[in-house]
Amino acid sequence: RNLKIAMICGSLRKQSYNRKLMEVMIEKKPNHWQMKEIEIDTIPFFNQDVEAEGDPESVQQLKEAIDEADGVIVVSPEYNSGSPAVLKNALDWASRPAKGTVLKHKPFALAGASPGGAGTVQSQGQTRQTLLTLDAYIMPGPKIMVGSVHNKLSEDQSEIADEATIKRVEKFLGAFEEWMLHFK
Ligand code: FNR
Repeated sequence: RNLKIAMICGSLRKQSYNRKLMEVMIEKKPNHWQMKEIEIDTIPFFNQDVEAEGDPESVQQLKEAIDEADGVIVVSPEYNSGSPAVLKNALDWASRPAKGTVLKHKPFALAGASPGGAGTVQSQGQTRQTLLTLDAYIMPGPKIMVGSVHNKLSEDQSEIADEATIKRVEKFLGAFEEWMLHFK
């Protein structure tokens, strides 16, 4: 059975470690998964006045992509012990209208990477809390919090090459498939 997975990266920088982690997921995805990134870099700051005039195109695309997906994987850094503003902003847009949000009962899985030791635990905690508020179904585990990620790259620094991390990703993807199918 084919599954559609939407991905959101909480970092906008080109050489993002979190993007590299996302690339491992795409590389290791099961054949029957279709994975597609939702671009969040053009979404404006949430503003109810703007919303009242109708969703900007970037927001329409965000909502459609989440709505169509069987599940969403968020791969994000931690900024100052919390979620990056761009990620929270995208989720705030997607949370509207409060009744009828595309986040409701949507399977989610969270992952992140950091050069620090704790590997985005606090960022994931905040994102989890936001998504719980919206009645999303967030996979409890296995968790992916890649610490010291700068030491887990290939020699040319272009990709994550750490065996344990790659194994963890495979386990995570398998578990997420089961998680999504619970709600089918
Ligand atoms: C950081 N960084 C960081 N790391 C962490 O583990 N906990 C934190 O609270 C923070 N805080 C923080 C704030 C700001 C404003 C920046 C720019 C960075 C470091 C962060 O993990 C590092 O820059 C990563 O490389 C960012 O992820 P990407 O862009 O590589 O995916």
